[in-house]
Amino acid sequence: MKKGLFISIEGPDGSGKSTQIAALKEYFEQKGMDVVLTREPGGTAISEKIREIILDKNNQEMDDMTEALLYAAARAQHVAQIIKPALMAGRTVICDRFIDSSIAYQGYGRQLGDCVRIINEYAVRGCMPDITFLLKMDPKIGKSRIRDEEQDRLELEKLEFHQRVYEGYVEMEKAFNRIVGIDAARSIQEISADIIAQIEAVLQEDGRNRNDL
Ligand SMILES: Nc1ncnc2c1ncn2[C@@H]1O[C@H](COP(=O)(O)OP(=O)(O)OP(=O)(O)O)[C@@H](O)[C@H]1O
Ligand SMILES: [Mg+2]
Repeated sequence: MKKGLFISIEGPDGSGKSTQIAALKEYFEQKGMDVVLTREPGGTAISEKIREIILDKNNQEMDDMTEALLYAAARAQHVAQIIKPALMAGRTVICDRFIDSSIAYQGYGRQLGDCVRIINEYAVRGCMPDITFLLKMDPKIGKSRIRDEEQDRLELEKLEFHQRVYEGYVEMEKAFNRIVGIDAARSIQEISADIIAQIEAVLQEDGRNRNDL
C-alpha cells in the first residue's frame, strides 16, 4: 500500500512548473520531510533515453500514436523504478508532469482521444497522484518565456495545438477533484504560497485520517 504523498505539477510549457517545484522542495525540506523530485518524460536512465527520442527536433516523421506509446512506456518504467518504491518507503514524490500531460498533449493536442487515458492506466497501474496542481496560464504567454532555440519538438508545435492542450487541461480540472487549478499569472511567491496552503490542508486531512484508523 502507498504511504508517501504523491504530488504532480501540470501546465503549459513555460507556465512555471520547474520554478514552483524548486520552491516546494525547499518547503518540504524545511519541514524535515524526505522529498523526491522527478520529471516526465524521464526520471530513470531508460525513460531519459525514451525522452530524447520523443523530444528530438529531428524526429519530425514520428507518428502520433508512436509518441503516445513512447510517453506511456517511459512512464511505466518511471512508476515501477522510482515513484512506487519511493512512495512505499513513505517519501513525498513531486513529479514535473505526469499522466495528465499525456491526456492533454496526446489525447487533446494530437486528438488521439480516450485511448491515451486507457494506455496510461496500464502504465501507472493504480499509482495516481494524491493532488495535482494545474498552473493555469495562456499558452501564448508560457511559450513566450522559452527561447526559440531552447524549444523541443512538442514546444515547437503551432499555437492551435497548444490551445487544444490547454482546453484539455481545463476540462480535466473540471472533471477531477484531484486537479487543483492555480492562477499562474501572478508572482512566483504568490503562486507558491497558494500551492503550499493547499498542501498544508492535504497534510492536515491526511493526519486526521490516520488518527481515525
Ligand atoms: N510567476 C512567474 N512570473 C514570471 N516569470 C516566471 C514565473 N514563474 C516562472 N517564471 C519564469 O518563466 C520561465 C519558465 O519557467 P519554468 O521553467 O519554471 O516553467 P516550466 O513550466 O517548467 O517550463 P517547461 O514546460 O519548459 O519545463 C523561467 O524563465 C522562469 O524564471
Ligand atoms: Mg520545466
